[in-house]
Amino acid sequence: MSRASLSERAAGRRVALVPTMGALHEGHLKLIKVARELSDTLVVSIFVNPAQFGENEDLSSYPRRLAGDTEKAEAEGADIIFHPSAEDVYPKGSSTWIDVEGVSTGLCGASRPGHFRGVATVVLKLFNIVKPHSAVFGLKDYQQFVVIKKMVRDLNLDVELTGVDTVREADGLAMSSRNVYLSARERKAALSLPAALDAGKLLFIAGEREAVRIAGAAKKVIEKEELAVVDYIELCDSLTLEPVGKLGKTTLLAAAVKVGSTRLIDNVILS
Ligand code: PAF
Repeated sequence: MSRASLSERAAGRRVALVPTMGALHEGHLKLIKVARELSDTLVVSIFVNPAQFGENEDLSSYPRRLAGDTEKAEAEGADIIFHPSAEDVYPKGSSTWIDVEGVSTGLCGASRPGHFRGVATVVLKLFNIVKPHSAVFGLKDYQQFVVIKKMVRDLNLDVELTGVDTVREADGLAMSSRNVYLSARERKAALSLPAALDAGKLLFIAGEREAVRIAGAAKKVIEKEELAVVDYIELCDSLTLEPVGKLGKTTLLAAAVKVGSTRLIDNVILS
């Protein structure tokens, strides 16, 4: 992979990377489309990164569909599919980790200790191996994007980052590789998550600026849904991810909800 990238770069071609864990859906395909526009040579990595899963999480059941994913990525214009093994990425004895302090701590970082350490480490490794000029990420994982942006700045990495808006199903559910876990009843219950964010947004549009009221309105929507359990609903500064009491110019309303055993996240920017 590195040799291929070096020779593309030496020939003056711009290399873009879309890092994924596979199970590609329309959201990923949009990232690939955007990256295609930014690059001469487009690399899509497919790697289910063990380091970002907690002990009781879904590493073993995470959907793996390499053949179908390769076909979809190539149809969108990917030139190279990079699919390393876990042993390639983490050779025996690996003991170096990237901890992006501060922005990794709240929201999903609080519910999934170590998650962003695993994400930042693998993304830095992918950057070092693929050597892209630019990389494209989805903003459904808003905190992940902030963590990666901070890592790029703090470590002087020469990679240009692009965040792409969340792609949703027709009924509003954010696309996620984990949606396949949902039963028909759970799929319906999962709609309480975008509905909760809408309720928060409507209150904001009506002029409410107290975070606790907006979070409360969103929470009420989830609590009406028997199968859904709130992990967090928070309002944070969209750049620092610090919790806010009163909403400023741009605030992130982010939520994580468990529907059955599936954990779903979503967010909206209030500005
Ligand atoms: O967003 C994802 O799919 C993953 O967290 C990423 C960025 C590919 C790192 O494993």
